[in-house]
Amino acid sequence: MQTPFLVSKRLYLRPLDESDLDRCLGWINDSEILSFLGRRTPMSRTMEREWLVGQYKSDSDIPLAIVLKDGDRHIGNTGLHGIDHVNRSAEFGILIGERDAWGQGFGVEAGRTIIDYGFKELGLHRVCLRVFSFNERAQRVYAKLGFTHEGTLRESYFRDGRFHDTLVMSILQEEWENS
Ligand SMILES: CC(C)(COP(=O)(O)OP(=O)(O)OC[C@H]1O[C@@H](n2cnc3c(N)ncnc32)[C@H](O)[C@@H]1OP(=O)(O)O)[C@@H](O)C(=O)NCCC(=O)NCCS
Repeated sequence: MQTPFLVSKRLYLRPLDESDLDRCLGWINDSEILSFLGRRTPMSRTMEREWLVGQYKSDSDIPLAIVLKDGDRHIGNTGLHGIDHVNRSAEFGILIGERDAWGQGFGVEAGRTIIDYGFKELGLHRVCLRVFSFNERAQRVYAKLGFTHEGTLRESYFRDGRFHDTLVMSILQEEWENS
């Protein structure tokens, strides 16, 4: 087991490393997952590696692997990105790449863990995210985490022959503390 960075009931979150790259590449190049993330182009191993190295060089990104305690299985990634230390804000991202792990509450559990770290340890004031209107599973997770829908980028994403809205959601520190 690699050293956990954050721990919850069924999961631990740890830094990503070189040995995770092929698994991540398989998820990121899955066409359905690609469309949830708004990517159009495939990612090569070199691109994925450069992305990861860049993330850990910066103090504005915290990417973490989501690992099941049971069996030590890496099922996805989550992170806080674009951390703005002046405005104390960040963007939350999550991807559970192993489809058989969907719908078991791991998204909510991992999200709760890293967002709590953002508010309590990084002193964030606001965490936001963007999600496409057709991604109802993700919206359900964000609602359960306490995010509020604060705006809509109308018909901003073209997929399957038509335009879809992008929803902007956020949660403030005070709301997190009271949830
Ligand atoms: C979105 C994602 C992170 C959710 O993680 P998860 O572990 O599957 O989610 P959870 O099990 O914690 O919660 C899923 C919730 O959505 C509900 N749900 C599942 N499928 C749904 C659907 N098609 N429509 C609406 N709700 C749905 C579940 O019932 C559950 O709610 P409940 O606990 O009230 O019953 C994960 O599915 C994923 O990574 N998907 C691909 C990438 C992605 O979409 N990332 C987010 C980009 S914004």
